[in-house]
Amino acid sequence: MRLQINGKRMEYSGDPAVPLLWVLREQFKLTGTKFGCGIAQCGACTVHLNGRATRACVTPVSAAGGGRVVTIEGLSGDTAEAVQNAWRGLDVPQCGYCQSGQIMTAVALLSQKPAPEDRDIDAAMTGNVCRCCTYPAIRKAIQQAAESLEG
Ligand code: FES
Ligand code: FES
Repeated sequence: MRLQINGKRMEYSGDPAVPLLWVLREQFKLTGTKFGCGIAQCGACTVHLNGRATRACVTPVSAAGGGRVVTIEGLSGDTAEAVQNAWRGLDVPQCGYCQSGQIMTAVALLSQKPAPEDRDIDAAMTGNVCRCCTYPAIRKAIQQAAESLEG
């Protein structure tokens, strides 16, 4: 099966039912995408599939065939940069475990809705759990990234 991951063509010849998360982490060594719950409840495994925030732990790799997968390692562009800068500037991460998933969800949100209201942010981020409770800083960073994109 052909996959496109972070703009590169990749070949996968294993079981098509294996979750995308394991193919990314084990075959392609893209370990920035984390395993949290494995049942679509925490958001640690969030990647983009065709630009949409997607839970890689419950997405069979076959569903990514022919699509564009982007992981935290492959994020690029103005929106991604604005989010990463805001995250750094506000020192958002604590332990860091959930943060690649948080950033992937935030970038997907701002790509679809460049000027989100607080309720849009809350709705988009609600499935990304943080044991360290960085939620207020995450929300602030998304607001800041949106402002910087507005110019
Ligand atoms: S590991 Fe995928 S949502 Fe928790
Ligand atoms: S920063 Fe520790 S789980 Fe979110």
